Amino acid sequence: MDLVVWLVILGIANSATALFKLSTPEIIKQDGYPVETHEIITSDGYEITFFRIPTSPKFEVDNKTKPVVLAVHGFISSSDVWILSGPDNSLAYNLADAGFDVWLSNARGNSYGLKNNKILFGRLSPRFWDFSWNEIANIDLPAQIDYILEKTGQPALHYIGHSQGTTSYCALLSDQPEYNEKILTGSLLSPVVFMDNMDSPFAPLLPLIGNAPAISALIGNFEFLPQTNFLALFGSVACREKSITNAICSNVIFLAAGFDPGNLNYTLVPKITATHPAGSSTGQFLHYIQNYISGGFNHYDYGFIKNRLKYGSKDPPAYNLSNIKVPTSLYYGNNDYLSSQIDVQRLASELSNVREVHEIDVPTWNHFDFVWAINVKEKVNIPVLNSLASFIDQQNN
Ligand SMILES: *[C@@H]1O[C@H](CO)[C@@H](O)[C@H](O)[C@H]1NC(C)=O
Ligand SMILES: *[C@@H]1O[C@H](CO)[C@@H](O)[C@H](O)[C@H]1NC(C)=O
Ligand SMILES: *[C@@H]1O[C@H](CO)[C@@H](O)[C@H](O)[C@H]1NC(C)=O
Repeated sequence: MDLVVWLVILGIANSATALFKLSTPEIIKQDGYPVETHEIITSDGYEITFFRIPTSPKFEVDNKTKPVVLAVHGFISSSDVWILSGPDNSLAYNLADAGFDVWLSNARGNSYGLKNNKILFGRLSPRFWDFSWNEIANIDLPAQIDYILEKTGQPALHYIGHSQGTTSYCALLSDQPEYNEKILTGSLLSPVVFMDNMDSPFAPLLPLIGNAPAISALIGNFEFLPQTNFLALFGSVACREKSITNAICSNVIFLAAGFDPGNLNYTLVPKITATHPAGSSTGQFLHYIQNYISGGFNHYDYGFIKNRLKYGSKDPPAYNLSNIKVPTSLYYGNNDYLSSQIDVQRLASELSNVREVHEIDVPTWNHFDFVWAINVKEKVNIPVLNSLASFIDQQNN
């Protein structure tokens, strides 16, 4: 059969299977919380949709001015990450219940950022995918922060990041220190900044990709691990809660980021596979590999010719972490392949205003446990809430 016909059939089938997954606002509504949908268009044309939980159904009367918090998801993830654990155990809802005005960020290239009004053929064009987390940090985040501050009339907000959300926090504040004024505190869950002590079984393979310019060039500027409805459908069948294959799905989810699904809330597995991976660019992945290899926290390495044009130097410059002045808390686990204790301590030593370095007291704690563990409320959400509350108390006194 003709290729075009196949593509049309695939397209229809893919759309049909969209029935098997819900979007962030659909999930929030189902969980009984109010939700708002907001959209920004970045200076370079990306149309990004993100969400707000303005209050909690637990309040009869709401306070007028509430502290604003922005939660920023990780690599190949999205705003969905913060709500999958349900109303009792998700950080986003716990924050809303504690009186915060909660905003859930999204990055270009994930399932809520797949349009660009300046690029012909949009996401089908390699130009669309010509970015790394540097652009997420330096363009998408400040656009969302400015938008939120304007909407809420507040001068500054609290920032919570997971994984790439911590990388982009550090990149933004290093490159645009004026954002120190707009962020009250930073809570970094599983910080991924320095990476050379990363303990993933895949780590030895990474230099092969990063060191071969030909391979980098070949895989540069494409969509990387997009969300597909097929996968969502497959997950909803194969990974359903009471299936034998649920355990396999869980192991696959944890393979790359810390291999011990022991803490996982297994009920979540079909919800995770329905929403993740949520899409990214190959540039984000390559940027991480570059930093893993170099051992630094550097801007994107385009190769020495383009580096000269972009940066005026052969090598990409380091992000200047000493520009970060926001009081920052670091939370790490001991079985996290992507965020090792040594690297977190190095980050702490390079930041000038660390509030606390918090080790999660579960030896098997890994990268995704920060959002999906069965005891995430006790081990992460409550410590984060307490830390924010103590900061707010200090300010009020
Ligand atoms: C596990 O996930 C389900 C589904 O989202 C949720 O309803 C439940 O509260 C979670 N349990 C815990 C202990 O996190
Ligand atoms: C409203 O403000 C009071 C006093 O500042 C505080 O105790 C309470 O927790 C706040 N409630 C909400 C919903 O933020
Ligand atoms: C980094 O920023 C600090 C100020 O925050 C400045 O003193 C220092 O010169 C900068 N370093 C570089 C290499 O630009």
